[in-house]
Amino acid sequence: MEATPIAPLTSSALPTAAVSATKSASKPASVIEIWGGYPLSGHIPVSGAKNSALVVLGGTLLCSQTCRIRNIPDLMDIGRMASVLEALGLKVARNGDMLDVDASHVSHSKAPYDIVSKLRASFFVIGPLLARLGVARVPLPGGCAIGARPVALHIRGLQALGAHVHMDHGVVHAYVPGARGKLKGAKIYLDYPSVGATETLMMAATLAEGETVLENAAQEPEVVDLANFCIAMGAKICGAGTNTITVTGVPSLHATDYAIIPDRVEAGTYLVAGALTRSNITVGPVDPHHLTPLLAKLRETGSTIEIEENNNIRISPGDRILPTDIQTLPYPGFPTDMQAQFMALLTLADGSSTVTETVFENRLQHVAEFNRMGADIRIKGDCAIVRGVTQLSGAPVTGSDLRASAALAIAGLVAKGKTTLHGLHHLDRGYEKFEEKLTNVGARLRRIPRSEADIAAQPTPVGVEVTADVPVGAAVR
Ligand code: UD1
Repeated sequence: MEATPIAPLTSSALPTAAVSATKSASKPASVIEIWGGYPLSGHIPVSGAKNSALVVLGGTLLCSQTCRIRNIPDLMDIGRMASVLEALGLKVARNGDMLDVDASHVSHSKAPYDIVSKLRASFFVIGPLLARLGVARVPLPGGCAIGARPVALHIRGLQALGAHVHMDHGVVHAYVPGARGKLKGAKIYLDYPSVGATETLMMAATLAEGETVLENAAQEPEVVDLANFCIAMGAKICGAGTNTITVTGVPSLHATDYAIIPDRVEAGTYLVAGALTRSNITVGPVDPHHLTPLLAKLRETGSTIEIEENNNIRISPGDRILPTDIQTLPYPGFPTDMQAQFMALLTLADGSSTVTETVFENRLQHVAEFNRMGADIRIKGDCAIVRGVTQLSGAPVTGSDLRASAALAIAGLVAKGKTTLHGLHHLDRGYEKFEEKLTNVGARLRRIPRSEADIAAQPTPVGVEVTADVPVGAAVR
């Protein structure tokens, strides 16, 4: 594929520093207050996929020219990834939803710990750095709230491609021996179809000598998006989206102009919000194929789903919310990133459901928070047994991770009274204009700064209605 010439930046383009500052600095610990009971109507626009954008930004390291990436959401995680690239010597400039990344000079091979520890996906720069420079030093990202999150599959794969890897004071040092510093293609079987490992190794293999075959590769749409971006830069990749990806190394890659796919998890979150509030809304654009398991489960729980023009998805409510069972799995299974939001829906189902989390070992922490809102959920091992209740009640709650925060927020949309959501540093990592998008379709919520938040955090007395003058009704039985 030919490179698309990069148009000069407009005068409104932000300087390099402004990109990483966009969302990287933590805001004061504010909260969101949500008043439940207001149905939604209208259309919720979907931003570019955070997880694609992060890894595609890492992939710009592979090319020694300037790439333009479009449809980049304005999120804290994106600001952090831009900071990592800048620390490595790249120039990054934002112009609206576009980022121009000039990777002509990579002046450092070491990624900074303070950012990698906050943004796990920034570890994935190890693959392109090693492929481009023959050396990379990236701190181990460490675990996070949802699990230990090892990177052994990334490292074993890089070793199979010929890298020497050792750990030193918490930093992964990888280098390619020999004067040429080139990785060598290999056949790599992944013990588990890890998204990140597939992406790391696919990027590394684009500039390796010879052919790399990744078996048991992840099939997520974000892997396909990254492959398409690499192909647009001149990489030779076949099979992305299946469990076997073949990469034939090329000597160098060239500039391109590439648009990120819409965010299937953001879209899914708002569709579940529609189902929960018994609303008729459209959400899009988003590729409905990327949402196959979620749409199937929404239909099973009684919602009607229609695919309209321009990849907009309409959701409309059935008579009641029916119970169902879900089990998270690698794509095309039910996504772990939608598990908490779907559980919010099941709390109001007419009967019992089970939610089994198989991807991460500690991703049921939102159960306790849902129960504080009046849900009836018990945990047995990696399974949550959700007995539907007729009504949730607003409460102060704290999200343990990004998706848990979003799940609690959408539960707040249907709970009686006021929900105060704490821990917004999670939510701001992954949802662009969250309050604005929901307010525009009729939700009542607002972000308030810390000082006011202290007052708002006082528990709402059970049974005391705060403002809901148009109750949605939890579940019609
Ligand atoms: C990506 C997504 C994340 C999503 C997850 C699963 C990004 C930036 N993040 O994360 O939102 O929840 O996919 O769909 O794209 N594992 C190992 N060894 C490894 C690597 C992973 O054991 O070397 C395990 C993990 O601990 C986890 C499972 O594999 O239990 C899945 O992880 P993985 O697919 O790698 O997720 P991420 O790429 O980190």
